[in-house]
Amino acid sequence: MGVAAVNEMSLRVGSGELFGLLGPNGAGKTTLHRMLTTTLFPTAGTARVAGCDVVREAPQVRDRIGVVFQEPALDDRLTARQNLELHAVLYRIHPHWLPSRVREALAWAELAGDADRPVRTFSGGMKRRLELARALLHRPPVLFLDEPTAGLDPQGRRRLWDQVTRLREGGVTVFLSTQNMAEAEGCDRVAIIDHGSLLAVGSPAEVKVLVTQRSDATLEEVFLELTGRGLRDEEATARDHLLGFARRGGELTR
Ligand SMILES: Nc1ncnc2c1ncn2[C@@H]1O[C@H](COP(=O)(O)OP(=O)(O)OP(=O)(O)O)[C@@H](O)[C@H]1O
Ligand SMILES: [Mg+2]
Repeated sequence: MGVAAVNEMSLRVGSGELFGLLGPNGAGKTTLHRMLTTTLFPTAGTARVAGCDVVREAPQVRDRIGVVFQEPALDDRLTARQNLELHAVLYRIHPHWLPSRVREALAWAELAGDADRPVRTFSGGMKRRLELARALLHRPPVLFLDEPTAGLDPQGRRRLWDQVTRLREGGVTVFLSTQNMAEAEGCDRVAIIDHGSLLAVGSPAEVKVLVTQRSDATLEEVFLELTGRGLRDEEATARDHLLGFARRGGELTR
């Protein structure tokens, strides 16, 4: 049986917006990121990113976006500088500009003093800042970040989040997913999705009123109201159990 990881979703994100995608584990956030960043082709529907179609103009989309994947994607054996240089070559940054771009990126990520250490010696926060700086190296107008602060301590989270919000000043459009409600509160608009479908979209204040009819509600209350309180792994275990039960001809074995 196929899984419709993302289904019948219609969204519009404005230029320069900081847009947050919220949803429980397995909701379809990464699948949506993958379709918008051209690493997965949708089986139906269309999407345009920075004016280009994600299927017919995939190479043009790739030139116009920066991506930080949910899973770390740095080469641990290379230094921070080498990781950036490799990206600069892949994105055809002119050799004349390459050293200054890399230097600027290291300074922006507050990693200038650690530039020549292998990335495997970095903390999680340093790695994430480097990935963000790398995603911006070719100066894309649109940035996709899939749970960029997951797994970081409060200090690392705050540092990275400050950098993300500073991008707004530069007019970069940021599309990010997060499980952190404080971060979601800081977004211009949020979308809450579950089981591949869009449940609510608007500014944090708008979705609070829309869902709870109260302006003093928290986003967490809104999130739980829309997506339920059950743990996703428990749901899956219960479903597997029922499926197994049906396959065994409906005889309860334990
Ligand atoms: N390669 C795959 N093959 C089959 N099913 C997949 C694949 N990738 C994702 N799925 C399924 O698609 C659904 C959406 O998964 P997705 O990874 O997009 O969720 P998510 O919202 O990013 O979750 P998380 O918060 O855990 O990162 C889930 O049911 C998942 O099991
Ligand atoms: Mg994900």
